[in-house]
Amino acid sequence: LDDGILTIEIDHPPVNALALPVRAGLLAAMQAARTDARVQAVILQAAGRTFVAGGDIGEFAEPAMIDPHNNHVFAAMEALDKPIVAALHGSVLGGGLELAMAAHYRVALPGTKLGLPEVKLGIVPGAGGTQRLPRLVGVETALKMMTSGQAVDAGQALTLGLIDELASAPLRDAALALARKAIEAQRAGQPLPIASRRAIDNDAAQGDRLEAWRRRLPAPERGGQAAHGVLQCVQAACSGNFERGLAIETEVFEALRLSPASLALCHVFFAEREAARIPGLARDIALRPVAKVGIVGAGTMGGGIAMNFVDAGIPVVMVEVSDAALQRGLGIVRANYEASAAKGRISAEQLASRMALLHGSLDYAALADCDLVIEAVFENLALKQQVCARLGAVARPGAIIATNTSTLDVDVLAAATGRAADVVGMHFFSPANVMRLLEVVRGAATAPPVLATVMKLAATIGKVPVVSGVCYGFIGNRMAEVYLREAEYLLMEGASPARIDRVVEDWGMAMGPCRMIDMAGVDVAAKTVIEATLEGKLGADPSYRAVVRRLHELGRHGQKTGAGYYRYEGRKAVDDPETARIVAELAARHGIARRSEISDAEIFERLLYPLFNEGLKIVEERIAYRAGDIDVVWTAGYGFPAHRGGPMWAAGQIGLRRIAERLAHYGRERGNAYGYWTPAAAAAAA
Ligand code: 3HC
Ligand code: NAI
Repeated sequence: LDDGILTIEIDHPPVNALALPVRAGLLAAMQAARTDARVQAVILQAAGRTFVAGGDIGEFAEPAMIDPHNNHVFAAMEALDKPIVAALHGSVLGGGLELAMAAHYRVALPGTKLGLPEVKLGIVPGAGGTQRLPRLVGVETALKMMTSGQAVDAGQALTLGLIDELASAPLRDAALALARKAIEAQRAGQPLPIASRRAIDNDAAQGDRLEAWRRRLPAPERGGQAAHGVLQCVQAACSGNFERGLAIETEVFEALRLSPASLALCHVFFAEREAARIPGLARDIALRPVAKVGIVGAGTMGGGIAMNFVDAGIPVVMVEVSDAALQRGLGIVRANYEASAAKGRISAEQLASRMALLHGSLDYAALADCDLVIEAVFENLALKQQVCARLGAVARPGAIIATNTSTLDVDVLAAATGRAADVVGMHFFSPANVMRLLEVVRGAATAPPVLATVMKLAATIGKVPVVSGVCYGFIGNRMAEVYLREAEYLLMEGASPARIDRVVEDWGMAMGPCRMIDMAGVDVAAKTVIEATLEGKLGADPSYRAVVRRLHELGRHGQKTGAGYYRYEGRKAVDDPETARIVAELAARHGIARRSEISDAEIFERLLYPLFNEGLKIVEERIAYRAGDIDVVWTAGYGFPAHRGGPMWAAGQIGLRRIAERLAHYGRERGNAYGYWTPAAAAAAA
């Protein structure tokens, strides 16, 4: 308490989550503020890097939320007859923003992020957010923020009326000045602004507008449950009765909190953070500095990888074999940035400053002062070995050498450098500037500081990193292989591409296997299969991935050639009788029985149970450190529905025993000559 102003500081690292002790502390502080006659105003602030970043996600899985409930605390705040100023910085999210909205005034540092991201966790805001936000910013904006979960920055928040002031001075000074102003205003007879008492915009057309929103939201069974919950709460808010709205919000929140989707999404949230930790590695291990990055090969991947670093302000030099290839690569990066600038996503200055960080060269000597060099040349072992040997010689001592290979043995490439301890795999996904996933491949000799540095760097460039051991396909593509294998057998047995895709898309996969390959390119997929088969990495089954090979031979390369698994009318995929003819012919050639009826349940099990089983094997072989890492790979990189928690989480929900039984069933029906249906040890033991 200083000069009539009581400061309440929340200090609950790491992110000041509204855990039980914080709620209890806030309530006690409110009581003190009410009873202490010296207090004229309150400043609510938080210590450390952020204001309150949310409710405590760890508490959501508890059978019952423990008192005092947030609503209890926030009601005490609104009931205080002295102004409360919330001083905001960092991430003001979820319960944090709900807390701020229960204060009378809000001031934020520029750069502060404010939002209600609850839908991303499968819940609705549960502490008045669905009732106060529409009263402060209007129904449309509130719905946009809460159904997307996207945050706004402080500048936008000011325009929207979510905060009262943007702090130009240090936050503390701005909050003090605002508190003084608030005391004056109250003395002058102005009532305290209380969010829950504000009128809500409501007119005759409101019902139609909400109905239009409902139609735009993803279906509840496809992960849209929480967004529909938000809509229900906002509809209640529109009635104008805050208490009733709050009661409905609590009901919806409680119904969603322990729903399968919410438990799965919270699992993914924590799994992503856990994946960044490397068992056995000290948290404070000395990292290698990475101030400049070199990239060899300015093709599809090289250019996309370069953009990640440039976006983070790290200079990049790309090395190519010919000036034509180099200019093409640089040109594509520029075109990408120009497209972003045209859409207003980056400014003209940002475009210029990013391009200024990107250089090209035809000379490997340009890589000599790089701290990290990533090779992204053609997927060819002899070529990569040669490139790695040159990098081993040219990169400065202590520099990290990374390979972006998707199928080659990282240990073999590491050996080629002559300095295997410096080598790691960095498996980016295409488009590399967009996809969040980064598989970090730990070779047999990779030095721990190299691994730790790359994991940290991944976060710097906005990726979600997961460590994989060395094996064919690493975690993601190795699992995708068994899924694609079964998709092709199902096609040969008589299911159509559209039917196969629909079954998994209805379950929530972003894209079914046939559409996925058509988009990525049948040629690209077939070449990988052909090479891996030649090298004996994919077993000896003559009918293995026969469909993709045949489509490739026929020049049906997918969307880009107008036909692949599907035929394309523009970008629209339509079933093609020609595909049906091709797969029937292949079935005859390989002695695969055709069936007139294949159930949706079989399609689902045939595609996903082998995939789950492969994941279990990956954990057993220690290719992944933990099951959650596999869930992160698939939700961040393969369009696996996060509301299903990832393959390992989903397998756990279905039950390993059930999965083992069905694998045995298909093994009996289809034969198990190639071990396709052999259960992992964990499934066999279930
Ligand atoms: N509850 C519990 N723990 C949390 C948390 C939360 N809301 N938010 C972050 N953490 C933990 C993380 O698990 C991590 O712990 P660890 O170090 O032990 O792994 C630590 O805080 C730091 O988090 P990050 O590694 O994510 O740090 P970043 O600096 O990269 O990001 C952040 C910070 C932007 C705040 C990010 O953590 C985030 O987005 N958090 C979640 C925000 C959120 O969803 N809030 C809404 C919660 S739901 C809610 O509030 C319900 C309400 O309506 C009742
Ligand atoms: P790409 O063919 O688009 O680009 C390769 C580039 O490397 C070409 O521009 C070529 O001129 C250049 N190059 C070849 N030899 C070189 C040398 N000795 N020195 C310098 N540059 C050289 O290939 P893409 O698709 O970018 O693939 C590169 C690597 O990334 C491969 O290992 C591939 O397996 C991997 N990858 C590809 C993905 C994809 O979806 N395209 C996804 C993940 C990894």
